[in-house]
Amino acid sequence: MSRRGFLRIAGAGAAVAGLSTTGLSSAAGAAELTPLAANLPTGSNDAYWREVERLFMLDKNVLFMNVGTVGSPPREVVDTLDRVHREVAVGAKSAYSDFADVRAVAAKGYGCDPDELVISHNTSDGMSKILAGLNLRAGDEILTTNHEHPGGNVPMALARDRYGVVLKRVELPVGNDQRAEDYVAAFERAISSRTKVMLFSAPTYKTGTMLPIQLLAKLAQAHGVTTVVDGAHIPGMMAYDFHALGVDFLAGSAAKWQCGPGGTGVLYIRNKVLPQHNPNPLPEFWPVVSSSYPEEGGLPPRSSGSKESYDIAKYLQSVGNGSIAIMEGVRNACEVWDRIGRQRIQDHALELSAYLKELVTERWGVASLYSPKDDPRLVCALSSFNPFRNPADVLDKAKSDQFVARMKDEYGIVIRNVDFPVIGSAQKHAPVRISTHLFHQRDDVERVVDAMWDLAGKMA
Ligand SMILES: Cc1ncc(COP(=O)(O)O)c(C=O)c1O
Repeated sequence: MSRRGFLRIAGAGAAVAGLSTTGLSSAAGAAELTPLAANLPTGSNDAYWREVERLFMLDKNVLFMNVGTVGSPPREVVDTLDRVHREVAVGAKSAYSDFADVRAVAAKGYGCDPDELVISHNTSDGMSKILAGLNLRAGDEILTTNHEHPGGNVPMALARDRYGVVLKRVELPVGNDQRAEDYVAAFERAISSRTKVMLFSAPTYKTGTMLPIQLLAKLAQAHGVTTVVDGAHIPGMMAYDFHALGVDFLAGSAAKWQCGPGGTGVLYIRNKVLPQHNPNPLPEFWPVVSSSYPEEGGLPPRSSGSKESYDIAKYLQSVGNGSIAIMEGVRNACEVWDRIGRQRIQDHALELSAYLKELVTERWGVASLYSPKDDPRLVCALSSFNPFRNPADVLDKAKSDQFVARMKDEYGIVIRNVDFPVIGSAQKHAPVRISTHLFHQRDDVERVVDAMWDLAGKMA
């Protein structure tokens, strides 16, 4: 068997092992191959994913591997948007609505209830609404990390400058030599009696490290701390059951891995006590952007039991006139994912990422990886690594920019780079980041690895 053939199997095994240990799966993840169309071949996995690829409109002349920045809606979602935009124009339809029906479809796929799910504008919008809605005061601490995105960093900075909230950062490790418990220990060392919120990205967009959400949520619960997850990359990539994560808030994108319309996101707000997953009382939280919150006030206290006392998501959803077309597009994107099976999509994307990491390790060595590979609790479908023959070149951001530009211009492959602090390094590192998703195949992974190896040789 060829080395690549062997690695394919090894990669698949690693991914499957990883999934079984998370213990998380979507209610919508079907066990059997669900036909996408009457003539869909179910006998062969490869044939199935080729059929899935055909659901998308992506330019065939480009290999697009930057889903971490933006996804691409399936053709049927584009058709839905087009049709409904036209109906709205013809009928001059308004949408003063809480879109309860769309939230119900989405919530089912994400393992939560409609009263806990808002279709937001994007991750940044969700993070801003979370931080503005919490009751934070001078001296309260937010415990976060040094690898956050501006989507989380900016609303935290506003809370610091406006209220005197203190931001404390855990320095995150990089590479393969780490385990989920290391993260729990690092956060535990930094928690103080003033810590009110733990806010972290899972995965981080820098290294594609999936911080162990459940373990960190348990730690926060034990200290009475509110958890906020920047889960930009979770919807559509991971088949997570949001309740089972045990967190209080999660903001994600619906336009990246979920491949919904641009300008859409998913905002989860725990709205009840979950005896099994999060028995802590609900934090004080205000739906600060709303045109439907009762003007006269008088809402009951937030629930202290397993049933919501009111639908908090509807107050954040119903803000002036909305877009029926965009909301129908989100519904349709969720339906496509649920039809294929969210667990199956996660398995495929992570299997490709595991394969990519094995091929990178074979060529560049395991030390080139910024993403973890061997602890299945830390992996996702974002993979970061140092592509340069001279490892020190990863400190040269301009060279890293050039690498990404030449991958596009000379090989027709779209990837991106990221830059971030690394413990023990005076300078930031700027590796490349590759996304593997449901419209990719194993030969796409081989193609990007061969191209990067070739380009690295030219740039040595
Ligand atoms: C971790 C993380 N948070 C937030 C964002 C912002 O996402 P959005 O465009 O959905 O606001 C990104 C975008 O890449 C991200 O990677």
